[in-house]
Amino acid sequence: MDHLITDLLNNPKVLETREHMHHSIPKYDHLRRSVKYSARIARMLHADERVCVRAALIHDIDSRAGTLTTHGKIAADWAAAQGECAQVCLAIVSHMFPFGPKPTTREAWVLVLADKAASLGDMKQFVGGLLDGTSMTLRRQLLESDPYYRVKTRRAHKQRLNPKA
Ligand SMILES: [Fe+2]
Ligand SMILES: [Fe+2]
Repeated sequence: MDHLITDLLNNPKVLETREHMHHSIPKYDHLRRSVKYSARIARMLHADERVCVRAALIHDIDSRAGTLTTHGKIAADWAAAQGECAQVCLAIVSHMFPFGPKPTTREAWVLVLADKAASLGDMKQFVGGLLDGTSMTLRRQLLESDPYYRVKTRRAHKQRLNPKA
């Protein structure tokens, strides 16, 4: 299904998610897993596969800028600014259901299911890597490479050194 997302796979905003942490693994892994599941579920539910896989790859872009219920809208706005069609943006908005807005299209339901399935897969990936230590090594690397956590951990470290500051 990669031929449906070739352009997005080369988008710097998507590529930078390799350095962002999501569910303790690279966000990119979560997005790729969501793409994989959304393609499968789209075929099962006779939904538009192109819409589903594009929405899946974008759905958590800039998620840190929002909350549990609002980050779908942030990613959808980014998608719209990139010229994605209304169907893709609609699917992204409601991907956190039952948190936030309710899905209104078949493709939106596909993304809800694919995201949940991918999240379970993320957990499996993380737990699997705990046994040989790779998960914790990768997690430490992500804490350093992800600007969001880098700032947070530096601030916490400073606080520990100087609690009154
Ligand atoms: Fe999300
Ligand atoms: Fe997600």
